[in-house]
Amino acid sequence: MPTVSQKGLNMPESPIRKLVPFAEAAKKRGAKILHLNIGQPDIKTPQIALDAVRNNTIDVLAYSRTEGSETYREKLAGYYAKNDIHVSSDDIIVTTGGSEALSFVMGSIADADNEIIIPEPFYANYNGFATGAGVKVVPVVSRIEDNFALPPIEEFEKLISPKTKAILICNPGNPTGYLYSKEELQKLAAIVKKHNLFLVADEVYREFTYDGVEHYSIMQEPGLEEHAIIVDSVSKRYSMCGARIGCLVTKNREVIKTAMKFAQARLSPPTYAQIAAEAALETTQAYFDEVKAEYVERRNLLIDELGKIEGVKVARPKGAFYCIAELPIDDAEDFAQWLLEDFRLNNETVMVAPAAGFYATKGLGENQIRIAYVLEKESLKHAVNILKEALKSYIG
Ligand SMILES: Cc1ncc(COP(=O)(O)O)c(C=O)c1O
Repeated sequence: MPTVSQKGLNMPESPIRKLVPFAEAAKKRGAKILHLNIGQPDIKTPQIALDAVRNNTIDVLAYSRTEGSETYREKLAGYYAKNDIHVSSDDIIVTTGGSEALSFVMGSIADADNEIIIPEPFYANYNGFATGAGVKVVPVVSRIEDNFALPPIEEFEKLISPKTKAILICNPGNPTGYLYSKEELQKLAAIVKKHNLFLVADEVYREFTYDGVEHYSIMQEPGLEEHAIIVDSVSKRYSMCGARIGCLVTKNREVIKTAMKFAQARLSPPTYAQIAAEAALETTQAYFDEVKAEYVERRNLLIDELGKIEGVKVARPKGAFYCIAELPIDDAEDFAQWLLEDFRLNNETVMVAPAAGFYATKGLGENQIRIAYVLEKESLKHAVNILKEALKSYIG
């Protein structure tokens, strides 16, 4: 039999999706599963975006431009200006989700065997994109005890080698919910300037910041023009995960020129979805205020309820819609699988994401899970109660 590639064998499975077969089997056996495992919001997509596609009269569903439609990119530049990020449409390449932007960025800035430093735990698919590009992820540990704050800058400096090309952060963070302060970002800015590295910020959760704290973007920081690259997406912002529209943004002309070649190879981003994303830019502030208020209530409820379970430690998220919880068990993956295979409370159970896959360092996060608070409050409270009863039964 012909053999598959070593790179393919090295590709990590998504910790978010790898338990899906167990969930499907449980559903077939009639169990109800409350999903706390995946960042698919239950929030309604803005009507204006749905209508733009519904009411469209296109005759030929043609390719769009490689870098994305001109009108969409121009309006996107306006969106960024409102967020105090001053870019032109030429600084933006529209991609098929933030996912494609991440792979274009890795391909554009790093060669095989180059290294990218990422605070862990991090969005697990960074491992997949890095493996695909042959790039090595070098993790720097952030800890639940510190609420996952930026690790001391010396920790980054210790890891920088001639192979290092970039520092990649997710702000606000998936899976931690951590929101980097302006001061923390300025420390990172100093270090990338000193060592001539890129600073890549995945800001797909930009709108979701809580407790009155504003998001500060790396592209608001003066002097980072040649270093800063933003990865962005409409998936979470407008609850439009299925549109598959994202973008990369940078003032660095060489990066744009290089990323364009990757973009040309895949021809163009999806046409209908760009129409939806362009219309979504008209979404009112009232929509975001409502969505944010909803997430804050969910977060508060989740953190309070988890805090009541003996032995559970949780970091308080300041943004996005995830948290990491440490459980009084040794093997969260075994627990997550057991929840799906063996545990039922009135024929219901919960699905969670074991956190080890969000770390690059072996052995870390093994007693942690990631919870996405993408269920409305009553279901969320119910889900945490199931988790509590399950833990009692699992520990015995
Ligand atoms: C931090 C982060 N970055 C990027 C993505 C990719 O999103 P998409 O490809 O849907 O834009 C996700 C999706 O969950 C994410 O959480």
